[in-house]
Amino acid sequence: MKNKKIVILGTGGTIAGTSAQVGDNLGYTAAQIRICELVSALPALANSRFELFSEQVAQVDSKDMDFGIWRALAQRVAHWVAQPDVQGMVITHGTDTLEESAFFLQAVLDPAKPVVLTCAMRPATALAPDGPQNMLDAVAVASHTGARGVVAVCAGVVHSAFDVQKVHTYRLDAFSSGDAGPLGHVEEGRLRLLRNWPSAPVGQAQEAIKKIAFGADARPWPRVDIVMNYVGADGRAVRALVADGVQGLVVAGTGNGSLHHALEAALLEAQAAGVRVVRATRCLNGRVLPKPGDVLADSQGLSPVKARVALMLALMANDD
Ligand code: SIN
Repeated sequence: MKNKKIVILGTGGTIAGTSAQVGDNLGYTAAQIRICELVSALPALANSRFELFSEQVAQVDSKDMDFGIWRALAQRVAHWVAQPDVQGMVITHGTDTLEESAFFLQAVLDPAKPVVLTCAMRPATALAPDGPQNMLDAVAVASHTGARGVVAVCAGVVHSAFDVQKVHTYRLDAFSSGDAGPLGHVEEGRLRLLRNWPSAPVGQAQEAIKKIAFGADARPWPRVDIVMNYVGADGRAVRALVADGVQGLVVAGTGNGSLHHALEAALLEAQAAGVRVVRATRCLNGRVLPKPGDVLADSQGLSPVKARVALMLALMANDD
């Protein structure tokens, strides 16, 4: 008799994808197979010491992930982690925006139980699909005593929600934790933990979620866009966004957040007009190191896409 369970939420992605031609790893359609079928197609999961329960929250290619699905996902995760008989959770997700969803869930829920996002780079109809092993590894991490927080598991590597980034378009081991390094590895169903589980201090993000997911009124999300520094960058895109009502801007600067003088001038104008501006870096590793006299806030080590989520949550928390 199994008295605790692991809840597996499906959101779509390549892990649930199929192609008309068996073995086609490129011309497939993501988000076709229901989560209950993915789970029942894996007899090895029956060996888990936990009961497995699945629920379909969405069925999308994660390039189309949206705030409505995030709201539903946050509600379902919050519901399940609050149940005393739930040991942990797994979420199947497309690889393309997995890092944004992982960061969002960690920031708003900071769960005291493991919430493990997993995925695949090949569809379920591939000759050698990677989804089944990723699912087994994710369940192993969710089963681990003492595990907590939102993590991602892909190709046997465990990444914290804060650090995970998709860094390859094709390889099965498509994710990296950058400078921070992975949180651990899954080897033959066992987790080898290298560092601490993610945990976020209670703050603005938790304030935001009360309004986003649990508020009586489902408010529109603050509009935050990303602009980039590059050779010949100028201020036209920024001025167009400000004229269009943008509330926040993240700039993916070069190197240590450096900006072409014309782009910087437009961002300073935007900030003076009340738009919140955050400076991240387009470099894959490292972080923007602030220096005396900086006028634009740095992203506190967050990548541009995660800094955008953090800024939306900060604007949401303070919108009263
Ligand atoms: C997606 O992100 O949903 C499609 C691509 C993938 O999962 O690898």
